[in-house]
Amino acid sequence: MSSLSTFEINEPLDMHLHLRDDDMLKLVGPLTSNTFTGALIMPNLVPPITTKEALLSYKDRIKEACKDDIFDAHVTIFFQADYSYEFLKDIKEDIIGIKLYPAGITTNSETGVSSMDVEVLRPTLESMSKLGIPLCIHGETNGFVMDREKEFMPIYESIAKAFPDLKIIMEHITTKDAVELLEKYENLHATVTLQHLLITLDDVAGGMLQPHLFCKPIAKRPEDRSALLAAALKAHPKLMFGSDSAPHPKHKKESCGCAAGVFTSPIALQVLVELFEKHNCLNKLNDFVSLNAQRIYGLTPKKKTISLEKSDFVVPSSYKFKDEIVVPMYADEILAWSIKKN
Ligand code: DOR
Ligand code: ZN
Repeated sequence: MSSLSTFEINEPLDMHLHLRDDDMLKLVGPLTSNTFTGALIMPNLVPPITTKEALLSYKDRIKEACKDDIFDAHVTIFFQADYSYEFLKDIKEDIIGIKLYPAGITTNSETGVSSMDVEVLRPTLESMSKLGIPLCIHGETNGFVMDREKEFMPIYESIAKAFPDLKIIMEHITTKDAVELLEKYENLHATVTLQHLLITLDDVAGGMLQPHLFCKPIAKRPEDRSALLAAALKAHPKLMFGSDSAPHPKHKKESCGCAAGVFTSPIALQVLVELFEKHNCLNKLNDFVSLNAQRIYGLTPKKKTISLEKSDFVVPSSYKFKDEIVVPMYADEILAWSIKKN
């Protein structure tokens, strides 16, 4: 039986990405912009992005770091419960959405919201709903680590019900419960990462501890992974690819008190092709990595076709720029597909 030897992806979009700043941005920015045509950029810098000035200057730094590539950075700001309607109206055209973090739930989220009560969040959510600004949520409680996303489901429901016109994106979903919730509310959507389609908690901590697979939300059970994978492979119309590629310096991952985040930008498309091919679903991949996001966010991305070929790609053990060193998922392993050089 002959098998496919090349595959093309049109206008790939990564709808959840951490690009960081300074030298780390210069290192990781091009590792996304060379293969994706656009990405939704997270605002959890230090300090988080909460002003127009910080937003526009970050956008400029991203543009500078990715200047050799066709690439649109769709930036977000960090949710605050008391943003004024005037402020949001003023920045509406500069952002793709607003990212809400419960306080302290993950990296650089200390100034996130301390209450998820709809009434507390109402001032900003009401303005967002009126202005048509999407809400991206890190949906975890501070309960037991494996139950945090499940426990957040009623909170998603309360927001979805209270603001039926607000477009809500459940970011990096990791559970069967979250996949099922997509069916219940028209205004709920989701992103899913690469790692959560591939691994379970066993891969992180079942044998020797794997710091480069440690992220928030933590990878869950086999049945959760199966539900996520099934939804991705059929390109569930409310599900988008969002890598949540979250680089941290090597010494912060390989240390006591490992930072949360899996760095997947340089391998994402190659691994997705391998995964969708393995399940005979390559015909759905373009919807999952581009068309669903275009429809959900109303984007018209710049034309960019990425050609992949079936030839070994040895994943580098690390990527370096000046003093920054970052280790990708599957470091030193061999992938079946590689990006064709033009
Ligand atoms: O693992 C994670 N890393 N999860 C997040 O939500 C944030 C991210 C980061 O910024 O490092
Ligand atoms: Zn993230």
